[in-house]
Amino acid sequence: FEVNWDAEAAEKGGFEHFMIKEIFEQPKAIRDTLSCRVADDGKSVKFDELNWSPEDVNSIGKIMITACGTAYHAGLLAKYFIEKLARIPVEVDIASEYRYRDPLTDSKTLCIIISQSGETIDTLAALKEAKRRGARSLAITNVVGSSISREADQVVYTWAGPEIAVASTKAYTTQLVALLLLALYMGRLNGQLSAEKETEILQDLQKVPEQCQYIFDHADDVKQLAEKFKNKEDVFFIGRSMDYGLAMEGALKLKEISYIHAEAYAGGELKHGTLALIVDGVPVIALATQRDVEEKMISNIKEVKARNAQVVGVVQDDDTEVAKTVDYIIKIPKSDNFVMPVMTVIPLQLLAYYAAVVRGNDVDKPRNLAKSVTVE
Ligand code: G6P
Repeated sequence: FEVNWDAEAAEKGGFEHFMIKEIFEQPKAIRDTLSCRVADDGKSVKFDELNWSPEDVNSIGKIMITACGTAYHAGLLAKYFIEKLARIPVEVDIASEYRYRDPLTDSKTLCIIISQSGETIDTLAALKEAKRRGARSLAITNVVGSSISREADQVVYTWAGPEIAVASTKAYTTQLVALLLLALYMGRLNGQLSAEKETEILQDLQKVPEQCQYIFDHADDVKQLAEKFKNKEDVFFIGRSMDYGLAMEGALKLKEISYIHAEAYAGGELKHGTLALIVDGVPVIALATQRDVEEKMISNIKEVKARNAQVVGVVQDDDTEVAKTVDYIIKIPKSDNFVMPVMTVIPLQLLAYYAAVVRGNDVDKPRNLAKSVTVE
């Protein structure tokens, strides 16, 4: 008598791959990261683990964010969150670049380190370098007791739970949530943000776990797109403002697991290069969820349509304008501009996932890549 017990299948909980399981775990991961940082009345942010005073925020001259890979992309969005909501200047660096560029970091700098694993060698080294130069440090990490969590002065944990798939999904969305909360917290403490605006954004953020269901209910539409594009050699992602940071993450996801070449471009940069590559049938994923730049995005979409690109528009669900100009549409539940990225990335993760599956790739363990890069 032999029991056929497949431990890995059990861990996947009925899903075919860890990546898709982790994509579907995002509502819970987001809720867990969020709920412990919302005051009892549901209207304001609290960070018991930081417990900062207004002076703690007012003494920050600038913020340096360093990270690698997907965590770096979370940092790119954090720049928008913090600069717009707390009006503190933010620089974002790839950790391996930061280390070697003799950075202008001093005791008035707050260094924010983002790392899912808390073990990435370049990120850890960047943290040590920032500390050596006298900076205060704050780590955003998913692993309690990790090297980075031990090295940093203070830690904000993302409560995403273990992430097994090499391509990061729920770690990224929880990083965005933690960073947006941090921006709200700093903006309130230094007086740059009104209590009303804080509550408005926070209430929209609290709706996200439920709103994700709409995206999951439409996952099949994304699967069909993946099937349509499976033999393409290049895919372009374009966006403006926060959607540009997301475009970079969408392109990275697609590259790392489907092995389709993908590039992200700021909408306004199209004319400075990428447009030369837009020929008949090239897929362009146009992220247009940010209302303040919607018109500009529509003119970018028209530019690529005029060269016969196949355009997928990713929009807020009440959009009517973008839909008129694109070939396919992906709708994201409506939310505050700052909250949109947390949901908008999910169909991009799904697109990469399904493209990798239809191409027969090893989704959870893509070739040449590791979950955690602990050697240089
Ligand atoms: C590797 C992983 C990526 C991750 C990056 C940074 O490249 O494959 O998914 O974004 O490392 O990892 P960290 O653990 O520091 O966030």
